[in-house]
Amino acid sequence: MKINSEDYWSERYRNGSTGWDMGGPAPALTAYADQLTDKSIRILLPGAGRAYEAEYLFRAGFTALTVIDIAAEPLADLKARVPEFPESQLIPADFFEFQGGPFDLILEHTFFCALPPALRSEYVRKMAALLAPDGKLAGLFFSFPLTEQGPPFGGSAAEYRALFSPYFEIKTLEQATNSIPPRMGNELFFIFELPEQQL
Ligand SMILES: C[S@@+](CC[C@H](N)C(=O)[O-])C[C@H]1O[C@@H](n2cnc3c(N)ncnc32)[C@H](O)[C@@H]1O
Repeated sequence: MKINSEDYWSERYRNGSTGWDMGGPAPALTAYADQLTDKSIRILLPGAGRAYEAEYLFRAGFTALTVIDIAAEPLADLKARVPEFPESQLIPADFFEFQGGPFDLILEHTFFCALPPALRSEYVRKMAALLAPDGKLAGLFFSFPLTEQGPPFGGSAAEYRALFSPYFEIKTLEQATNSIPPRMGNELFFIFELPEQQL
């Protein structure tokens, strides 16, 4: 089964093979969300899985949230946990085929590392295309060596800088200090900003 397919991910949710699932939002991302003052900004959460960050943002009063996952199962889980979450803002779709936006902020959490590395350049271009001018892509990347075996697929700050800097200003790219214990020392928190005029 291909890694980047609905069957592959749905099957993992159905058989409980979801070792990445933290059962709650990443502290680095809730800390980032907590300092956002404008709750009307348009936020995309791609490859969101059970979408604990979307739940956190929704409960904090953010309204313009769009949650995408290629598998329907985790989106149904979010809806069961938060029945008030608007169904129309839950999109069971392939991120690369999604034609929405623009967004002011896209939050990344273990989506990039789940993709076959051959899709990385396309991920960068798609993110840039989905953001409004001045929009931000923020989140967590793993910082362990990239291997052929995955997911998760790793990478380094130098690799991420090289990949994203043709499109984004690298505002922050540093070791996360508030990772959960099993990920401590292996995560980079980042904020990449699109220039006012896209390239
Ligand atoms: C490792 S999980 C991370 C889920 C969630 N972000 C988290 O941290 O718990 C990767 C997620 O990306 C989704 N996914 C993989 N490829 C995708 C694609 N092309 N489009 C949308 N979602 C995708 C999977 O279904 C899965 O939920």
